Amino acid sequence: MNQQIVDQLAKDILSLIEAEAPSPENIGIRGTELIQEFIRKPGVGDSLAKLDIRKKVRLWGSQGSGMQILLHGADTPKRGSPHDHGQSWALYFQVSGATEMSTYKRISGAPGRPGQAALEKTDQTDLTPGNAMFFGPLVIHSTQHSAPPARWIRVTGTDLDYVERLRFSIERQEAVIEKRYR
Ligand SMILES: [Fe+2]
Repeated sequence: MNQQIVDQLAKDILSLIEAEAPSPENIGIRGTELIQEFIRKPGVGDSLAKLDIRKKVRLWGSQGSGMQILLHGADTPKRGSPHDHGQSWALYFQVSGATEMSTYKRISGAPGRPGQAALEKTDQTDLTPGNAMFFGPLVIHSTQHSAPPARWIRVTGTDLDYVERLRFSIERQEAVIEKRYR
């Protein structure tokens, strides 16, 4: 991967939110266009395809804080449980294959808090190559990959490994803290 191209992408994304809060308009639309331009650059697609997604692939960002650009993938069928990203925003950009993305509304319990949590599915979208979805803080979502392989880029406002976030059980109608890092 040409680091200069990735650095430029990160700089361009960060400039979108220099003077305004991250939103579906700036990150969601303009950020998506920037990643579309990025993956069309010579050599980028091939470089992404060669990366080993069994390990954490950080394309850009510093461990622990600040915006992160990660590559994720599924080579076998996968189904994730609903979760949020705490106070971080996120942009899921599909590179290849498809991500079946569901979003949910929490209809019981306190937003962002563990405990009783009944969920109601509000949307299901197939993210296909070149398309993306923006999530603001505390948006509950789940991914499924029933037809691997798939690759996607996830940009987050901060390092999610260091953010308190919730994972939900639909069956138990419960939210638990996935990570507490202080
Ligand atoms: Fe997520």
